[in-house]
Amino acid sequence: MLDRMYKEYPRGEAPPALEALAAKIRRADAFVFVAGEYNWSVQPGLKNLTDHFLEEWFWRPAAIASYSAGRFAGARAGLAWHGILSEMGMVVVSTSLAVGAVAHAFDADGDPSGDGGAALVRAFPRFADDLAWWTDAARHQRDRSDPPY
Ligand SMILES: Cc1cc2nc3c(=O)[nH]c(=O)nc-3n(C[C@H](O)[C@H](O)[C@H](O)COP(=O)(O)O)c2cc1C
Repeated sequence: MLDRMYKEYPRGEAPPALEALAAKIRRADAFVFVAGEYNWSVQPGLKNLTDHFLEEWFWRPAAIASYSAGRFAGARAGLAWHGILSEMGMVVVSTSLAVGAVAHAFDADGDPSGDGGAALVRAFPRFADDLAWWTDAARHQRDRSDPPY
């Protein structure tokens, strides 16, 4: 559970798992948040993890893929994540993925299956293209000009 944020540790003294994750986040050009839904909102485990960092997330795009057991496909959690990720300095792309009845949307090998899987396969190219376009745009802008803060 969150005790201290990564930046609150003196340099080099953060626990190794936190240090490794900070390096991964800093290296990334974009993020995909795969988010389930608990009681109409975000899963606390993922929220707890993201809250360990702040500046490490800045100036990159993020996309949200939500899922749940129910028909609403984690859409309520996805909506909550949108504001959270904005507050953490990411630009959330417009296209999202939402997979309902997730227990039936994949087969034992993890491949899409059934109606939910077919819907996922149909929706995925636009999701990926949207995020890839903004990833390129943000990378070029970071190369051209340092972030203002
Ligand atoms: C505490 C808890 C709350 C849940 N709340 C919702 C909910 O609000 N809406 C929904 O569609 N499913 C809900 N579910 C069902 C989850 O969508 C389903 O269990 C899903 O597989 C959870 O993802 P996970 O396996 O990554 O934890 C809930 C499950 C748990 C354990």
